Amino acid sequence: MQQADIGVYGLGTMGSALALNLAEQGFHVAVTNREVDWIAPFVTEAGPLAANLAPYETLKAFVAGLAVPRVILFMIPAGAPVDMMIKAVRPLLEQGDMIIDGGNANFNDTRRRSADLDAAGFEFIGMGVSGGEDGARHGPSMMVGSSETAWARLRPMAQAIAAKFGSDPCVARVGPDGAGHFVKTVHNGIEYADMQMISEVYGLLRDGANWDAARIGRLFGGWNNGPLASFLIEASADVLNAVDALTGTPLVDLIVDAAGQKGTGRWTVIEALKLGQSASAIEAAVGARAWSSVRDVRADAAGILTGPPADLAPDTQQMEQALLAGRILGHAQGFDVLRAASQEYGWSLDLGRIAEIWRAGCIIRSSLLDDLAAALKGAQPQDQMILSPAIAALLNANVPGLRRVVGAAVQAGLPVPALSASLAWYDSIRQARGTANLIQGQRDYFGEHGFARLDKPGKFHGDFS
Ligand code: 6PG
Repeated sequence: MQQADIGVYGLGTMGSALALNLAEQGFHVAVTNREVDWIAPFVTEAGPLAANLAPYETLKAFVAGLAVPRVILFMIPAGAPVDMMIKAVRPLLEQGDMIIDGGNANFNDTRRRSADLDAAGFEFIGMGVSGGEDGARHGPSMMVGSSETAWARLRPMAQAIAAKFGSDPCVARVGPDGAGHFVKTVHNGIEYADMQMISEVYGLLRDGANWDAARIGRLFGGWNNGPLASFLIEASADVLNAVDALTGTPLVDLIVDAAGQKGTGRWTVIEALKLGQSASAIEAAVGARAWSSVRDVRADAAGILTGPPADLAPDTQQMEQALLAGRILGHAQGFDVLRAASQEYGWSLDLGRIAEIWRAGCIIRSSLLDDLAAALKGAQPQDQMILSPAIAALLNANVPGLRRVVGAAVQAGLPVPALSASLAWYDSIRQARGTANLIQGQRDYFGEHGFARLDKPGKFHGDFS
C-alpha cells in the first residue's frame, strides 16, 4: 500500500470511528494502538474499508508508513497520555510533521504543547471533535486550533470527513493554538446546561405530575418536531422510551441518578470565572451533577428536610417555551465566554462561524443554532447575541413560559437550578439600574473602597458615621 495520508493513533471508540470515516472518504490511513491486540480485530471488522487501512504494531513502523510531511492524529485520553505520546513520537518525526490532538484536552495544555512543538519546528493542532461515536464515524463537527499553514494542509481531509449542514462542512479553524479546544470545552459547557434543563423538565413531569417515562418520552418526541428540534431532545426521548429487556420496565427508571463528568463542563465554568464572566446556567448544570453524586446525603436529607407537596399542574406548552428560553440563555452565556476568551487571548474568534459549525454533527446541534448563526453572522465582536432583533423576539415570546415554569417548580419544591439560573441572568441583564450601588456602599463602609457617583465624575467615600 502507498504511504498513508494520515496516521491514527488510538483505536478506542472515537479513534476507530474517525479512522473508518477517513478510509471511507478514500484516504489511506495508518492505524495503531497501545494495546496491539486491538488492531487486527479492528481491521477485520472494517470489511472492505480495510483496503485503505495500514495496520502497524510499533510506533516506529507506524511513523515510517506515513507520507512526508507526516500527519498523525492522536485519539487518546486527555492529559498525561498526550504528553507521553508526544514525547515518544517526537524523535521519530522531522521538521514540518504535524501532530493533531483530537481529544477533549484542556486548552491550557494545548497552548503549552503548541508553543513547545512550534519552537521545535513541528505543527501542532488542537482539534475538538464532537458528535460521539456516530458523529466520528459518519460526520463530526470539528473545531480546529492551529496555524494557518497547518490548517491549509489538514483542511481537505477535515472537510471530507466532517458533518455537512446542507453543503457546508461543519469544521473550521477557529483560531490559533488552544482556540479549538477552548471552543470545544465551551460547546460541552453548553451541552451540560442543555442536558440539565431537559432533565429538570423531566423531573417536573415525573415528580410533580406523576407522568411515566413513556409519556414524557412521547412529549419530548413531539417537541423534536418544533422549535426545540435537536439531537439532545431526540436522544432524551429515545432514552425515556427505552424498555429494559430483562424486567420490562422503562430503562430510565433503573438507571442510578448520579451523573458522571469528565471535566469539560467544569473547565468552562473555571475559565469563565477567570475571564471575569459568569456562565451561571452552565455552573448550575455542573453543580447539579456534583449534587447528584452525593446520593447518601440526599437520601438522608429527604427524610429530614421538609418542603411543600411536590404537586404541579403541568402546562406542556409553557414547559416547551421554558426549555427554548433556557436553551437560548445557556448558549448566550457560552458565547459570552467565547467572546471574552477571544479578547483575552487575541484569537479573533468568529462567533457566527462557530455557531454554523455546530449546526450539524455535534451533540448540541439544534434548529436553534441555525437562528443563532444567522444572528451572529456579521455581528460586531461587542454585540450581544440576546439583543439581536430575532433572538430578542424569541426571548420575549418564550421567557414568560420559563418564568411560569420556574415559579411553579419553586412553589412545588422541585429543583430547577439551571432553568432558574438562566432566568435570574435574564432578569439581571435587562435591569438598567441594578442593585450594585448598595454593594459599593457596603464595600466603602467596611473597607473604604470608594465608589463612583451618578451625578459627578471621580471617586468618592461616604460619611456613614
Ligand atoms: C461530544 C461530547 C463528548 C463527551 C464529553 C462529555 O461533543 O461529542 O461532548 O465529548 O460526551 O466527553 O463528557 P462528560 O459528560 O463525561 O463530561
